[in-house]
Amino acid sequence: MEDRKESELKSFCSRNILIILGFSCIMAVVALIAVGLTQNKPLPENVKYGIVLDAGSSHTSLYIYKWPAEKENDTGVVNQIEECKLKGPGISRYAHKLSEIDIYLTECMIRASQVIPKSQHEETPVYLGATAGMRLLRIEDAQLADKVLAAVTKSLSNYHFDFQGARIITGQEEGAYGWITINYLLGKFIQKLNWLYLRSDENGAQETFGALDLGGASTQITFVPQNKNIESPRNALHFRLYGRDYSVYTHSFLCYGKDQALRQKLAKDIRGTDGILRDPCFHPGYETVMNVSDLYSSPCTRRFAMIHPFSQFQIQGTGNYRQCQRSILELFNTSYCPYSQCSFNGIFLPPPHGDFGAFSAYYYVMDFLNLTLEETTSQEKVIDTMEKFCSQPWEELKTYFGDVKEKYLSEYCFSGTYILSLLSSYHFTADSWKNIHFMGKICLPCPLPLGSHSLPPSESLVCHLGISSSSPASVLFLRFC
Ligand SMILES: *[C@@H]1O[C@H](CO)[C@@H](O)[C@H](O)[C@H]1NC(C)=O
Ligand SMILES: *[C@@H]1O[C@H](CO)[C@@H](O)[C@H](O)[C@H]1NC(C)=O
Ligand SMILES: *[C@@H]1O[C@H](CO)[C@@H](O)[C@H](O)[C@H]1NC(C)=O
Ligand SMILES: *[C@@H]1O[C@H](CO)[C@@H](O)[C@H](O)[C@H]1NC(C)=O
Repeated sequence: MEDRKESELKSFCSRNILIILGFSCIMAVVALIAVGLTQNKPLPENVKYGIVLDAGSSHTSLYIYKWPAEKENDTGVVNQIEECKLKGPGISRYAHKLSEIDIYLTECMIRASQVIPKSQHEETPVYLGATAGMRLLRIEDAQLADKVLAAVTKSLSNYHFDFQGARIITGQEEGAYGWITINYLLGKFIQKLNWLYLRSDENGAQETFGALDLGGASTQITFVPQNKNIESPRNALHFRLYGRDYSVYTHSFLCYGKDQALRQKLAKDIRGTDGILRDPCFHPGYETVMNVSDLYSSPCTRRFAMIHPFSQFQIQGTGNYRQCQRSILELFNTSYCPYSQCSFNGIFLPPPHGDFGAFSAYYYVMDFLNLTLEETTSQEKVIDTMEKFCSQPWEELKTYFGDVKEKYLSEYCFSGTYILSLLSSYHFTADSWKNIHFMGKICLPCPLPLGSHSLPPSESLVCHLGISSSSPASVLFLRFC
């Protein structure tokens, strides 16, 4: 009975949670948001739609949003009504097969044509935002990156929607989007008025959550530091949300997403081998062959590139967490820091402050390893789990997780160890580990107040709103400025 009530509540919430977006242009980053609930009111007749393609390094997702037209100039109530994952890799991989981009986009665009009423197609904006996979392609070959975007533009212009452009977003934008999204999903921008005592605490300001985002090609850390002084201007973002000013620290490390970090590690470690790499980040008994040229094809591995007498090399897993971590830590150069404190590679980092939400690959790697439960998961427990997991023989693991794709299964030891290493390079300690919340779903008080003039949240009702595991930031490509 309780269970049924809870699941009814959940489905009620997921059907009805609406997202209010309103934007004002400040710097490159633009945003203002809150979460609201429509209760049982029917949606106004006059609705608008928007389509966002979120082009990550390993895959692209298409999202369809819906919002009432009246709010267009102020604060829009935006509801994600559909997610369609494109079949195939990230768009940067189409650089040498531009003619296939049409087919790549077709299925999900047709889906959008079906979901959105025909009468609305002409006024429905379509945006494509690409992240680190395309940033890397642009570094490698700017003309080729432009050709990919041009092919995407040509293809998306063929539909009867209002195509608004395809572009590569910056690392700062990506960091900001992630931060805004989780804080908005957590209801942090909503004035927390205490109606019983008729006061609002500290002007209603709530402590925001920091955002930890891990993709395939880049990783972002974004939070409000305790000390407002952000020593390096390029790591500072200032914006105004709901009448409140935020100074946010952000950094995006290109080449430090988990896929590119693994390539860096391999490129570093095959130096001085005879073509056989005994690798502690893979399980004992695991063997695979890689092409040296493939490894060096990314700008991320260039600093390790050298001439080898072999064109292929073999990885033989040895499954040792400690040695794996030691090897990973060599990717973080901590020998110089022009600021009072750095993470690595001379990048300014203020001391991590407050709670952090860790999502995308942080979440799905830790979820696979059963390490997302907060009550039971200390840093010590995570390390202990990784030690055991990495040393598990590959054959045993493959039999046990027969339904997991081998490529993914083989990389969890590396990815889990990488996550621990990356977080320690951000100066999270055994003590501050408890402030990190691995989030695939966000628990919200529900119903949430709509803006500042509605009822206070009822704390007894909790519902779950899924955030996109790839990039929750996609919501924020919708701009009304
Ligand atoms: C929004 O503003 C524009 C320009 O000020 C105006 O033309 C349009 O009618 C407004 N839309 C709504 C729904 O009020
Ligand atoms: C290595 O390169 C060759 C030729 O370029 C290709 O046929 C082969 O599939 C590649 N091997 C791997 C493991 O990617
Ligand atoms: C770390 O960076 C400094 C400054 O760029 C450089 O001199 C040093 O060689 C780097 N160390 C490693 C291990 O790459
Ligand atoms: C996670 O927990 C599930 C259910 O208890 C179990 O079947 C699975 O083996 C665990 N995964 C890992 C990686 O230990």
